[in-house]
Amino acid sequence: MASNDMDTMFRYKMSINPATIHQIGKIAELHKQVLTSGFLSRLDTAILGKLYKLILKEGILLAAVTDDSSLAGFVSFSHDTKKLMRMFVKSSPDIYLRLFITYLRHPSFVLRSLETMLAPFKHGNNNKGIRNIPASELLSIVVNPAVQHTGTGTALLQKLEGELKKRKIYSYKVVAGEQLISANRFYQKNEFLLTDRIRIHGKTMSNVFVKSLSID
Ligand SMILES: CC(C)(COP(=O)(O)OP(=O)(O)OC[C@H]1O[C@@H](n2cnc3c(N)ncnc32)[C@H](O)[C@@H]1OP(=O)(O)O)[C@@H](O)C(=O)NCCC(=O)NCCS
Repeated sequence: MASNDMDTMFRYKMSINPATIHQIGKIAELHKQVLTSGFLSRLDTAILGKLYKLILKEGILLAAVTDDSSLAGFVSFSHDTKKLMRMFVKSSPDIYLRLFITYLRHPSFVLRSLETMLAPFKHGNNNKGIRNIPASELLSIVVNPAVQHTGTGTALLQKLEGELKKRKIYSYKVVAGEQLISANRFYQKNEFLLTDRIRIHGKTMSNVFVKSLSID
């Protein structure tokens, strides 16, 4: 176990494990509470929960839990975000109804949701000739604000990378809006390389980071 993992466990008696279906609601709530700027956080908790349920099947979802069973944070990963987005829109008819209701309340969501769904198609094959951007992607990493800056995010990342190595995945990407200053610094501090910049919503640019893992 990495020393950072150990430190965090001693301080918070926290454990990081694959999320269970029962934690999905709390995960979706924490996403909405903390990642306030993205389109996904405007979806109601039930739809967002459906996305995280799909990630549980298609990818990796790890939850950091303190000894009083509260959710300290989570990290989600997809082997192929394009496939995941296709699965999401096909997954069940009630998603269309719920999205329709959301659109009636907030018409601007139509454009923002399309932009979010199309985002995975905007990099990896661009006109700058960059072709080595992996399909595998860290989709979200969120730590409860009450325990941020105590090593939980780093411990989640280390646990995720251990899982990736078990699956023989040695590189992955993450896309972060450039306005997320602390997240961008977090990725750079954790050895991600800025590899591309794309436009997802309006004029805001997003950074595409790639991290290569050592083969032990
Ligand atoms: C980005 C995020 C996941 C990082 O999680 P975190 O638990 O705060 O991360 P860490 O504690 O491992 O590291 C963050 C900082 O705390 C510092 N830190 C870590 N352990 C520490 C400790 N014991 N004491 C003091 N500082 C510590 C790190 O050095 C790092 O410093 P920096 O911000 O100056 O680079 C978290 O800030 C977050 O949830 N942000 C909002 C959601 C978001 O933007 N997610 C990314 C987009 S999907």
